[in-house]
Amino acid sequence: MRALICRDWGEIDTLEMADIPPPEPGPGQILLDVVASSANFADSIMVAGNYQTKPAFPFAPGLEAAGRVAVVGPGVENFKPGDRVMAKLAHGGFAEQAVAEAGETWPLFDGMDFALGAAFAVAYLSAHVAMRWQGRLEAGETLLVLGAAGGSGLAAVEIGKAMGARVIAAASTEDKLQAAREHGADEAVNYTEENLKDQVLALTAGEGADVCFDPVGGPLFDSALSSLGWGGRFIHFGFVAGVPQVPANRLLVKHRSAMGSSLRYFQARRPDLLARSMEELADYFGKGTLRPIISHRLPLEQGVEALRLLTERRAIGKVVVDVAPEVEDK
Ligand SMILES: NC(=O)c1ccc[n+]([C@@H]2O[C@H](COP(=O)([O-])OP(=O)(O)OC[C@H]3O[C@@H](n4cnc5c(N)ncnc54)[C@H](OP(=O)(O)O)[C@@H]3O)[C@@H](O)[C@H]2O)c1
Repeated sequence: MRALICRDWGEIDTLEMADIPPPEPGPGQILLDVVASSANFADSIMVAGNYQTKPAFPFAPGLEAAGRVAVVGPGVENFKPGDRVMAKLAHGGFAEQAVAEAGETWPLFDGMDFALGAAFAVAYLSAHVAMRWQGRLEAGETLLVLGAAGGSGLAAVEIGKAMGARVIAAASTEDKLQAAREHGADEAVNYTEENLKDQVLALTAGEGADVCFDPVGGPLFDSALSSLGWGGRFIHFGFVAGVPQVPANRLLVKHRSAMGSSLRYFQARRPDLLARSMEELADYFGKGTLRPIISHRLPLEQGVEALRLLTERRAIGKVVVDVAPEVEDK
């Protein structure tokens, strides 16, 4: 099968197209004919060898995909060949076939094409579990989202709004903030031009935000933490700009908490909550509340460029990689 593969840890530019044997599904797994995949920032971290998991070489990156079930492995009863599905993958989406756990594979929602399906599971599920179960975001609270026009950031904006929060989107350009506004943000702060803490305090009459969803980290963290009010919850979601150190004194003085949220925790330890999150997301999607943005679509051969759009901060929402665009979407 055609795949964009990684033969050694390094820069994303070292990825290359190759013909490799298709993977085989084991017990509880599904082999998927991939129609579309999408880029996640974590793909570049995995290719560099710095991700939590390190696949054996050669491997294709790609943490999610949508397509049709080709083969079901032993013990899989809830899917059959031909089903239209989306899946969260350990890796391998940038290839014509990929293996997924049946428990991390879902039927495409009504009205969802393969491209939307490929752009949905990682960003929306991980943002939902982070805010719903870990951050315990409640209706009427104020949610601050950093990197608010990124894949997971924009998902957090839409989900936060759907959950009844007042959403303050923070991002680096006016185009990105406009996208966040169009997708539910009540307020917008440009953190390259304005002081994040001052703006959030001004927008909340000095009270501060209740929850911060942070996929960015790095130098912004200090200001973001200060913009949380009494009892605020800081969700460490990702570190695209660096891993911050948490000053415990500033948690204590305002009765705040800082917490990590990992989709992998819910996959491994709380599949019940993961399933409830998918049900709530399906409900929101059905009502038209979630409208993922796909700013770019590129063929598999340009998968490196798809990843570069993220590492160079040029994407808004998701970047889809078309693997088999000739496949009918019905
Ligand atoms: N915890 C979990 O369960 C989980 C699940 C999925 C992903 N993640 C993590 O979340 C993070 C974001 O992933 P994503 O796929 O949403 O990424 P993304 O689509 O590339 O979005 C990241 C955003 O971060 C901002 N940013 C600030 N500094 C940046 C820099 N130096 N380089 C790149 N972007 C920068 C950009 O917005 P501005 O230009 O507006 O600043 C960009 O839109 C990654 O670390 C990923 O591993 C965590």
